Amino acid sequence: MGANDTPASTFRYNEKPVYTTSNGAPIDNPEGWQRPGTIGPLLLQDFHLIDTLAHFDRERIPERVVHAKGAGAYGVFEVTHDTSDLSSINMFDTVGKKTNCIVRFSTVGGEKGSADTARDPRGFAIKFYTEEGNWDWVYNNTPVFFIRDPTKFPLFIHTQKRNPQTNLKDATMFWDYLSTHQEAIHQVMTLFSDRGTPYSFRHMNGYSGHTHKWTKPDGSFVYTQVHLKTDQGIKTFTNEEATKMSAENPDWNAQDLFESIQKGEYPSWTVYVQVLTPEEAEKFKWNIFDLTKVWPQKDVPLRPIGKLTLNKNPENYFAEIEQVAFSPSHLVPGVEPSIDPVLQSRLFSYPDTHRHRLGTNYQQIPVNAPLKAFNPFQRDGAMAINGNYGANPNYPSSYRQLTYKAVKPSVTHESWSGAAVHELFQEVNDDDFVQAKGLWDVLGRTPGQQENFISNVSGHLAAAHQDTRTRTYEMFSRVDADLGNSIKEQTEKLVK
Ligand code: NDP
Ligand code: HEM
Repeated sequence: MGANDTPASTFRYNEKPVYTTSNGAPIDNPEGWQRPGTIGPLLLQDFHLIDTLAHFDRERIPERVVHAKGAGAYGVFEVTHDTSDLSSINMFDTVGKKTNCIVRFSTVGGEKGSADTARDPRGFAIKFYTEEGNWDWVYNNTPVFFIRDPTKFPLFIHTQKRNPQTNLKDATMFWDYLSTHQEAIHQVMTLFSDRGTPYSFRHMNGYSGHTHKWTKPDGSFVYTQVHLKTDQGIKTFTNEEATKMSAENPDWNAQDLFESIQKGEYPSWTVYVQVLTPEEAEKFKWNIFDLTKVWPQKDVPLRPIGKLTLNKNPENYFAEIEQVAFSPSHLVPGVEPSIDPVLQSRLFSYPDTHRHRLGTNYQQIPVNAPLKAFNPFQRDGAMAINGNYGANPNYPSSYRQLTYKAVKPSVTHESWSGAAVHELFQEVNDDDFVQAKGLWDVLGRTPGQQENFISNVSGHLAAAHQDTRTRTYEMFSRVDADLGNSIKEQTEKLVK
């Protein structure tokens, strides 16, 4: 399953499987229980009852600490353009080549049962089952992010979740953080535009956000950013529509995805790459390791690579979607992480959380298992279900030769040395508002978008404390003086 194909159906209407206990013994009444006589207490020997209750007691695993609410489907990536000048990535090596994949979309801040239409970035995570291992793209629907310093991630996320005392969402915490960490402004502009409430998962883009390196066997490399543009067109909810939908159908996005695929309306995305050589990167106006910045498309055009199409629903949500485990560190030959510190920290964080959420052998769960893996030096552990490499030696034995394929790292572009320091990426400065203003101008190209933005912010900010509101008005004034004034005017009218 997973790697080669999607799971075999275990459910057939015309079959009547014999019901058994979990150890396979047939049982006549699944709802019955044992007692002596007709009024006696339960019998401990009733394995069926105890097994049923005990298993039920353990049905929940930890939900994802972020991106807990999601939906997913299987699909295929097809190469449409030759990119052999850029990398030796096996998945891209022939035009027309198809690679199976699984995709999971998600909201970020809410719990597993939260509403799909919340204003939030959306996760757009893909696992490609390539011939040279699983390659995960753990992307969002926004090209930038709130932070560029990795330590801030848990701190920032706490402010978007619940107040530790009231257990309520808290507008003061939310805006207090954002107005005191103004490198987030570009992402805040995206989040409070109508793209912060996509109509469906099918109608949004995906972006790598981070810079990666695509490499070739001679050690050369280019820096890249990947974009997935929806072929369905961007479609968004207004704030009012999103709020209404969250009450009427909190699972709207999951339902929309499942039903579209069931009807044979397969959603697709055209995949592009932006490319900078190391020399171009050095001279580039923007620091390419700063996750709060995009590479303007007029400066670095999008180059098409392929098409992603989703064409099969999961058979079992828990097995295939809840247990799927993505990581930016699941890379393949021909691609390397850049030195972006947020990306570097993510390389650690995801497998770490998977070991907690799913266990040390999470890569053996069918949906996560690569097409080919042979790693007999990783042995045992809870739920070692793949045969545990049988009699293969658990060390590099001279009695069992393995083939070690050379995967040459890229020639280093970044070089570093010196004492360890505790530093932020850089202090917030006027440059951090340039692309935020660029987006404000982009919103101005479509009638009503700027007005919606102001109203989306005001409706949320009005619930924050006075001094937080004031600091936030000042922050938006750094994007555009009129924007700051308009937000202030509308927000103060809404303050209760
Ligand atoms: P261009 O002026 O060349 O194009 C504007 C881009 O803005 C579009 O391609 C579109 O990205 C995006 N966009 C359009 N409407 C909205 C909206 N309502 N909300 C959010 N994004 C929208 O863009 P530049 O590359 O010079 O960037 C201008 C601004 O656009 C940036 O400051 C950035 O905030 C935003 N943007 C840039 C992206 C990039 O990678 N360069 C990607 C997405 C947004 P798309 O085609 O991807 O939908
Ligand atoms: C999920 C950590 C930044 C995209 C997660 C999870 C963790 C995490 C712990 C839960 C994973 C799980 O339980 O399976 C972090 C840290 C970050 C960071 C520490 C920064 C330091 C980002 C960024 C992006 C992103 C910048 C996008 C560009 C995602 C997505 C998921 C996710 C899409 C959901 C994956 C799924 O569907 O299972 N993140 N994250 N994260 N993250 Fe991040």
